[in-house]
Amino acid sequence: MKTLTITRPDDWHTHVRNGAILKTVLPHTAAQFARAIIMPNLKPPVITVAQALNYREEILSALPKDANFTPLMTLYLTAATTVEDIKAAADCEHVHAFKLYPAGATTNSDAGVANIATIYPLLAAMEKYELPLLLHGEVTDETCDIFDRERVFIERHLTAITRDFPNLRVVLEHVTTSEAVQFVESAGENVAATITPQHLLFNRNAILAGGIRPHYYCLPILKREQHRLALVKAATSGNAKFFLGTDTAPHLTHTKENACGCAGCYSAFAAIELYAEAFEQVNALDKLEGFASFYGADFYRLPRNTDTITLEKQTWTIPSAYGDITPLKAGEDLSWKLINS
Ligand code: NCD
Ligand code: ZN
Repeated sequence: MKTLTITRPDDWHTHVRNGAILKTVLPHTAAQFARAIIMPNLKPPVITVAQALNYREEILSALPKDANFTPLMTLYLTAATTVEDIKAAADCEHVHAFKLYPAGATTNSDAGVANIATIYPLLAAMEKYELPLLLHGEVTDETCDIFDRERVFIERHLTAITRDFPNLRVVLEHVTTSEAVQFVESAGENVAATITPQHLLFNRNAILAGGIRPHYYCLPILKREQHRLALVKAATSGNAKFFLGTDTAPHLTHTKENACGCAGCYSAFAAIELYAEAFEQVNALDKLEGFASFYGADFYRLPRNTDTITLEKQTWTIPSAYGDITPLKAGEDLSWKLINS
């Protein structure tokens, strides 16, 4: 039986939600990953250190008994965030970054930032206190085509942010375009990107060809094949600027199978298997460990994990549901299976 053993990976972009959904999805993330960057877009959003510590406690108490998993908390940047809030976050060992959602860009982003120019003093404070800025990099301009929103964000905002704050560590989250790949490649060492499994495995036909498939709808939306190919090339290049961030984003099935369905793909149940599939398609399984287990830790200045996980080459069928959540590729086959963790 063919197996693949790698250093235990981390997930640098995860939505675990709270309440009942947290209890369903957290065991999946904790079975695969040692650590995960926890997104703060709850209702209401996680804005203060105190809220992040409460949320951290809720996550720890939802963990299975034998789990060995550390949630890495983030704060949600708003127009009301202060320089003092940034200093407090930098002083808290459990808070690892701030997340910037342009207001209205995605799920629970209403409290996000409407005008990026107004938060320049906050970006200066993040640069000073060495706290990374995590970006949902899409413009919200309604006249901008949804497939262009990432490229236009880079042109209108990100180029200026990286020019004006040359030492600010920035992660352009869930990149989806060749333009984003090029931007990150040509930027300084302080600029990196996460890549999701769905953007490596699928192009926009998965959502729209032959019928509308809401479980493939996420933001930023899947793009053309040429962009998927650019992402696969970046992820499998061995360039440490690109690392694993699933953006696993669970929503109840009825809220996705809806006249106005929510954005987000649920991938935590088989995250590393989905990435293994994408890397194997281009004969690059030897590049999976760096992408999944080394580069993100290095960027966040955290120690690399020392234990391992093993995947086995075996075909299994993804269930149609986990509780009230429909997984990515529900009912389809995967060719790798995590066998120990
Ligand atoms: C995410 C969610 O549901 O919270 N949805 C998504 O489509 N990716 C938010 C986000 O990361 O944009
Ligand atoms: Zn996300």
